[in-house]
Amino acid sequence: MKNTDRRKFIKSFTTGIAGSLVLPNLVVANDTSISKKWPRLKEEDTEAFWEAVKEQFVFAPRLRYFNNASLGPSPVSVQKAAEEFRKTLDGFPSKYMWGGWQQKKETVRENVAELFSVSKEEIALIHNTTEGINLIARSFDLKPGDEVILADHEHPSGTIPWEVWQESRGIKLVRPELPILPKNKEEIVEIYKKAITPKTKIISMCHIVNTNGMILPVKEVSKIAHEKGILVAVDGAQSAGMFKIDLHDLECDFYAASSHKWLFSPKGVGIFYAKKESQHHLKPLMVARGHTDSSIRRLENYNTRNLSEILGLGAAIEFYDEVGQQKIHQRSYELKSYFRSKIEGNPKFKLKTPPNDELSSAIQVVEVLGKNVSDVKKQLADEFNIDCRPMTGFNLNALRFSFAIYITKKDIDELVTILEKIA
Ligand SMILES: Cc1ncc(COP(=O)(O)O)c(C=O)c1O
Repeated sequence: MKNTDRRKFIKSFTTGIAGSLVLPNLVVANDTSISKKWPRLKEEDTEAFWEAVKEQFVFAPRLRYFNNASLGPSPVSVQKAAEEFRKTLDGFPSKYMWGGWQQKKETVRENVAELFSVSKEEIALIHNTTEGINLIARSFDLKPGDEVILADHEHPSGTIPWEVWQESRGIKLVRPELPILPKNKEEIVEIYKKAITPKTKIISMCHIVNTNGMILPVKEVSKIAHEKGILVAVDGAQSAGMFKIDLHDLECDFYAASSHKWLFSPKGVGIFYAKKESQHHLKPLMVARGHTDSSIRRLENYNTRNLSEILGLGAAIEFYDEVGQQKIHQRSYELKSYFRSKIEGNPKFKLKTPPNDELSSAIQVVEVLGKNVSDVKKQLADEFNIDCRPMTGFNLNALRFSFAIYITKKDIDELVTILEKIA
């Protein structure tokens, strides 16, 4: 289905439930005139377009939110759609849970699949990344001595499932160390290459590490791994939605993501991709009726599910499409460059995210030299209402800033002025 057809299709099931989800008609926070200009702005790519996007998100008063990597907000249209789905479900619970909405859920699956350029038979709708990695780690009957590669920058959700579900079997977790500022992706590929032994069965890796926002070369690592019969599982928590991803092109076997970060869906909704040829390796984490289903749906079947939130993901994809995947992709890099250009060369700061586009995008970390990051984080929050994440591991002592689509260049100007004041 083409993008335009898809939009039509989603609208047909959301209009009347959530009201119009077309952006120009949205209730915006401050100034409806901007939203009325939307169609014209859309053609132009001006800062005004992004100001209009920002107005679709309603934050707590005075809050400056640079913490999307921790958790994303939902725009007004998604909030309203999810609210309406909840109300509708409560109006006739049994009808919608078992019957009425199954087809709508399939539409959401289809739209997620299209967003990632894969088949809907390769997408399961789960709760979050953590669940996806658990599902993978629990699926394998690894033998004593088998090895799983997990680089040192993996998120706890990417390591704990392997430790808990697999260590008791006597497997070895190989933990290569990644540089904070590699020169290029080949340097990282080489590290993974060296970590592979004849005993390696699986490489589990982040697409973007949460520590300093570094993008890892999943495609290149997958190529090497597959030549040796090794499977590749990817933690996509920080990449899904930040930029355009073609999961077939990424060549991994499995990809788990949380749509409540960079896709702005309701909370507790996640996406799980398993390449058709690799699906036979996977077992459901929980078993219920349908657990022997040969389709990927067996991996998401927990009997009664929170369908309103899953349908809310459909509304989030509609919003995402309305802004435009290509535009979002470009914007992630544009904001990164804009921020970096204001920080680079300033002796008060040290950027601790690699600069190359192949190695980073809309997450950047920066150290305020001579200051303890926890103190700076507190000062930013207490005095300036700025929320960001302090990163202390790997000697980073740095602030992690997320530049999601609701951040404007003006927001970055203000942020940098405040950082300079603090420094
Ligand atoms: C890289 C990475 N993986 C996994 C997670 C866990 O995400 P969730 O709690 O949505 O499962 C996070 C959360 O920040 C993350 O950054």
